[in-house]
Amino acid sequence: MFNIGIIGCGNIAEKMVETVKGMKGAEIYAVASRDIFKANAFAEKHHIPRAFGSYEDMVKIPELDLVYIATPHSHHAEHAELCIKNKKNVLVEKAFTMNAPQAKKLVALAKKNNVYLAEAIWTRYMPSRTAISKLIDSGIIGEARYLTANLCYSMAQKERIVKPELAGGALLDIGVYCLNFAFMCFGNNIAKIDSSAKLSKKGIDENESITVYFKDGRVAYLTSAMNARSDRKGIIWGEKGYIVVENINNPNAINVFDSDDKLIKSVKIPLQITGYEYQVIEAMKMIKAKKIESESMPLSETVFVMQTMDKLRKEWGVVFPQEKKPSKK
Ligand SMILES: NC(=O)c1ccc[n+]([C@@H]2O[C@H](COP(=O)([O-])OP(=O)(O)OC[C@H]3O[C@@H](n4cnc5c(N)ncnc54)[C@H](OP(=O)(O)O)[C@@H]3O)[C@@H](O)[C@H]2O)c1
Repeated sequence: MFNIGIIGCGNIAEKMVETVKGMKGAEIYAVASRDIFKANAFAEKHHIPRAFGSYEDMVKIPELDLVYIATPHSHHAEHAELCIKNKKNVLVEKAFTMNAPQAKKLVALAKKNNVYLAEAIWTRYMPSRTAISKLIDSGIIGEARYLTANLCYSMAQKERIVKPELAGGALLDIGVYCLNFAFMCFGNNIAKIDSSAKLSKKGIDENESITVYFKDGRVAYLTSAMNARSDRKGIIWGEKGYIVVENINNPNAINVFDSDDKLIKSVKIPLQITGYEYQVIEAMKMIKAKKIESESMPLSETVFVMQTMDKLRKEWGVVFPQEKKPSKK
């Protein structure tokens, strides 16, 4: 059995439990919360063998094959470091870290300790990802020239989204999916990026509009916001037609239309448990093969995404409190 431990008993931890319950050969063996009562209640609810009231205590046990980090963005680096230093393989929720320097530090530490480290950006691991690339490469829409992608949810009531100290903001939470969609479709050879964002009173990005110009002339137009619900479509426009991806956050349909708006192809999305299983399957496969990074989401790509988001935040003036230099008096 492949034993998984979870750090943080929040919303996405519940989803991961539901996912692994439907998988073969893996189980959630342990959970850790900052609060032992919460950990016990979570473990009891889901019939998880072991519960811990401290993250440190859980990562010390030898039974774990993988630790899944399900905490706010602000804490990913600290919690991943804790796992790596205890020689545990780690799957870290998106956004991978708060910024690129933290991401680079983790990558170096994982290499030094010879453990698997990967970002749980689920869309990178899904079968839909290959299907979209195949359609673009097939030439069915001719030369793919532009794309548009949006991801907006009404979630301005969530603490971890609105608080700067939890590295909130639309970009790290959902804009990251738009960027990943663009990079999966058009690669990462970027010429320049134009963007603008509206900041909240607390100084984090409520919404943003990002235009990525690629060196080969392609362009991606991306939109995300934390206080509205969008249609979540990703549309790739080619010279002979367009590909519509329904819900870039978890694609449920991919349809191709010609220049007369006639549906010419539909790609079936395989039945899934929740969609989170693919990143776990990849971790199991890689760890079994003694590989220390994912093939679907290499660490260099994770760092590239983080660097892109750092540049965007710099332009907008979004600085998390932990990043602020102490003032000299
Ligand atoms: N892939 C996806 O579709 C998807 C969807 C939603 C979220 N996510 C990602 O998953 C991660 C967690 O999101 P979530 O929605 O599950 O968040 P959440 O419900 O707020 O849970 C986060 C958990 O982190 C722990 N934590 C540790 N330090 C904390 C602190 N200082 N403040 C608050 N919580 C703290 C808490 O667990 P304990 O109290 O048990 O210690 C809390 O329950 C984020 O990285 C997010 O981007 C991914």
